[in-house]
Amino acid sequence: MKDIYTLGIESSCDETSVAIVKNGREVLSNVIDTQIEIHTLYGGVVPEIASRNHIENISAVASQALMQANMQLEDIDVVACTYGPGLVGALLVGLSYGKALSYALNKPLVGTNHIQGHIAANYITHPDLKPPFLCVMMSGGNTQIIHVKDYTEFEVLGKTKDDAIGEAFDKVARVIGLGYPGGPKIDKMGQGVTPTIELPKTHFDNMDFSFSGIKTAVINLHHKNPEIDKADLCASFEKTVSEILIENIKKAIRKTGIKTVVLAGGVSANTYIRKEFEELKNAKVYMPDIKLCTDNAAMIASAGYYNYLAGNIDDLSLNAVPDLKL
Ligand code: KG4
Repeated sequence: MKDIYTLGIESSCDETSVAIVKNGREVLSNVIDTQIEIHTLYGGVVPEIASRNHIENISAVASQALMQANMQLEDIDVVACTYGPGLVGALLVGLSYGKALSYALNKPLVGTNHIQGHIAANYITHPDLKPPFLCVMMSGGNTQIIHVKDYTEFEVLGKTKDDAIGEAFDKVARVIGLGYPGGPKIDKMGQGVTPTIELPKTHFDNMDFSFSGIKTAVINLHHKNPEIDKADLCASFEKTVSEILIENIKKAIRKTGIKTVVLAGGVSANTYIRKEFEELKNAKVYMPDIKLCTDNAAMIASAGYYNYLAGNIDDLSLNAVPDLKL
């Protein structure tokens, strides 16, 4: 079969990224321009600023991706871009760029779901990984247990009823004074610390989640006692969150009989959570390479490749969908 080179574009939040991936698995380039420093000034992502920065950066990021892959635009077979979920203005930049490339090169345009992209980060890290499997999706905007039936076929088994897990990390970090982005700061602060603080967990009969209770409990403990040991608080938060995730994946394993578990999304970079999942019994656990956990275009190119193989090709009327579901 002829090799297929997919150019992926990601601009759903505060990373402008373009990548070139061969046959959905081999990364030839993955250029990521992050705006973290700019948004840190405001304590979180400012959508309008994010869109403007994507516009300023996307052409240079794309040129760099081609250069690093040692390719010309004409060598590209498929253009895959994130069209949701995410910030609408930010999404529109990458999507419009992708549409323009697809039109000018006369190559297929494949709109790709950002969540599907996070799952596909694992296909790059683990060349042997194939569906079916269970995925614990934990990102800034989503927390879900997903039954990945095939590369483009998904069933959501459980999801958060309130905050996404990454949102809870970011809010806790902001209130206890660690700043933005909160996940990596909590990760660093909690490392090597034995958690001793009891925090509440919300239980459901099904595989849904709730993170607002634990988030509020941590914030209240900090407000009531500003001298509280922040490192212990961070480690205790990570411990409790890990227990919630593991409880639900165990339910999913019992329900489906599937024993392959895949982590995905920005929070899957968390040291504590990764360690807890490594110790999960009776299941084979896959995790994305740390640098592929957070937003990047290689994962979009990989997911886009499988969408292309499935015949899911879009036309130029494709629009951004900020609340796109799997
Ligand atoms: O998947 P992602 O890059 O963006 C979305 O698609 O939503 O996830 C971003 C989230 C943020 O909430 C960030 O704080 C969190 O991932 N995150 C982490 C770590 N690295 C990033 N959370 C915990 N530990 C980390 N090491």
